Amino acid sequence: MVKVIFVCLGNICRSPMAEMMFTDMVDQAGLSDQFDISSMATSNYEIGNPPHEGAIAELNKQQVPLIDHVGAQISKQDFLDADIIIGMDEQNITDLKHMAPAGTEDKIKMAYDVLGFHKAIKDPWYDHKFDRTYAELSEVLPAWLKELTK
Ligand code: 4NP
Repeated sequence: MVKVIFVCLGNICRSPMAEMMFTDMVDQAGLSDQFDISSMATSNYEIGNPPHEGAIAELNKQQVPLIDHVGAQISKQDFLDADIIIGMDEQNITDLKHMAPAGTEDKIKMAYDVLGFHKAIKDPWYDHKFDRTYAELSEVLPAWLKELTK
């Protein structure tokens, strides 16, 4: 079982989209029993809140099955339990490295690392470009699935 945690700043836009898209990919590949997939925030801003309506609308448009989700902040125990923690941008990685208990830092990756690009999954919070978030996640998630099933 591979425990994957997707992480962004608020856990209402990018990381829940990543969680739902990756879960759909894993289900379609018949690999659901091999993965434990969740998403969390670095911040406490949106704890208890549902995903952004723009994220839900984009997932519906793309026919990605929705998963019940409320915002949660990553805890020290989550770092210990995870096999891999995938952040969306540079700030997420900086914050995660500050929060990580000793010995867990190597679990932290940035989403585009898997393609060898140093690039962010940009925050749609300000411009509401959830179609861009979907497109960016569609580039990296199949590569993560391949990497994590090696
Ligand atoms: P996310 O987007 O990190 O992709 O979930 C944001 C959500 C909330 C805030 C910022 C970004 N906020 O400042 O509350």
